Amino acid sequence: MKAKITLHRDFKVGAINPYIYGSFIEHMGRGVYNGIYEPTHPLADKNGFREDVKKIVRDMHVPIIRYPGGNFLSGYHWEDGVGPKEKRPRKLDAAWQQIEPNEVGTDEFHDWAREVESEVMMAVNLGTRGPDEAAQLLEYCNMPAGSTFADMRVAYGHEKPHGDRVWCLGNEMDDANQICCRTAEDYAAIARKSAGLMKKIDPSIKLVACGSATMYEPTFGEWELTVLDRVYDHVDYLSLHQYYPNDRKDRPDYLANALTMEEFITGVIAMCDAVGAKKRSKKKINLSFDEWNVWPQIGKCNNAVDPWSVGPQREEYFFTMEDALLFGSMMMNLIRHCDRVHVACMAQLINVCAPIMTVIGGPAWVQSTYYPFCYTSQYGRGVALNTQVICDGYKTRRYENVPWVDSVAVWNQEENEIVVFAVNRSQDESAQVEINMESFGKASLIEHVVLEHEDKDATNTAQNPDNVKPHAGGNTVVGEQGAVVTLNPYSWNMIRLALK
Ligand code: AHR
Repeated sequence: MKAKITLHRDFKVGAINPYIYGSFIEHMGRGVYNGIYEPTHPLADKNGFREDVKKIVRDMHVPIIRYPGGNFLSGYHWEDGVGPKEKRPRKLDAAWQQIEPNEVGTDEFHDWAREVESEVMMAVNLGTRGPDEAAQLLEYCNMPAGSTFADMRVAYGHEKPHGDRVWCLGNEMDDANQICCRTAEDYAAIARKSAGLMKKIDPSIKLVACGSATMYEPTFGEWELTVLDRVYDHVDYLSLHQYYPNDRKDRPDYLANALTMEEFITGVIAMCDAVGAKKRSKKKINLSFDEWNVWPQIGKCNNAVDPWSVGPQREEYFFTMEDALLFGSMMMNLIRHCDRVHVACMAQLINVCAPIMTVIGGPAWVQSTYYPFCYTSQYGRGVALNTQVICDGYKTRRYENVPWVDSVAVWNQEENEIVVFAVNRSQDESAQVEINMESFGKASLIEHVVLEHEDKDATNTAQNPDNVKPHAGGNTVVGEQGAVVTLNPYSWNMIRLALK
């Protein structure tokens, strides 16, 4: 099969905000306890955090990590997690029916995040709590010494403010399972009050209002329009959350979820702009896609949830080669819409539906999805190009035409290179892709990285951690006008081209 990609130096989508390569760690399952934090592990540092996990996270180039939830957030008292550890309460976490020992809290997490070279995207509890507690947490994190909560932080060993720039106003407050879920009107009122108060304390912060828990919620659309109408002038971003389940029954349609995600993004942009137009506002509300991933569903890693324990196995899955293809396409969507998607968090980072897995007392290993994340996060920096892909497509039960080749290109002006990300959705045919980029002048190949496997359902495991792993691609030819590249069947690819 043949495909043609046209890139032009004058056709740009916009600058990519590095925050689109964010992730998420929740006090859930083995995300924190028995995940990043395992004090009895041979590789634990003096604070109980695993060095091997820190190294993997650093290698992923994650600029921002959302914390501490998730559903956990809506019942959390942040004060329980600061101060002398021996005085911290052991609490019931009603969201996940776990014990929260509060050994890791705001300060420990920020210290850890600094070590993995990430910022923290803090979230305030608007389930059981409200504006007052949100403002106090902001004071604790962002204000210099001289007031009660800032002084508390100093007394607990952090002279310098943590200085968090992006804050979430609650989590999935429309979801019926959320602790103290709210109607759109009710949420809009509390989010508006909290936002007003928080921005008076620190006007430099950016705030994320909750969008729908997924685009399949019955109130999707209505929720966005109602909330935006009330908070438009007070917030900066609206959140989107979506996980795509893989039942491995209809592979072509599973990969077509990339189109569904795109419809979700463009739909929410339209809603933001409709409210803006109604208000005759010059301001744009941008998107924070702060929970996204594929959700493998089968092949669970032995999820024997032990209720009311600390750090139990929960929602741990094996990601397949096929999952890495949709995952790679989801990342391409974030780049393609980088003019409006300014923040995104792949959920979650460790153990819970995550690319990094840990064995208690043993090694850490990475899943198939780790690779598209790492490469896209490291090399997808710069300006997104309006990437025209011409190729045939296929029909699924939901779509008339799903292009065989999915691709987006990034111009890294600092490094003077073009980076093309591409997925071949065909299970049996390779794609000969002609990349026309004449306007950039001469180029040469730096590398072509390919992720593929003869078994679409191949996974990595603790025992076989390198089963799905990228390798160098062959036969790319670079000429006067661009490059000709072969994309093997069912493969994810990154092609880096140096400009002269
Ligand atoms: O990531 C797991 C859960 O999924 C989060 O707690 C919640 O926000 C979402 O529904």
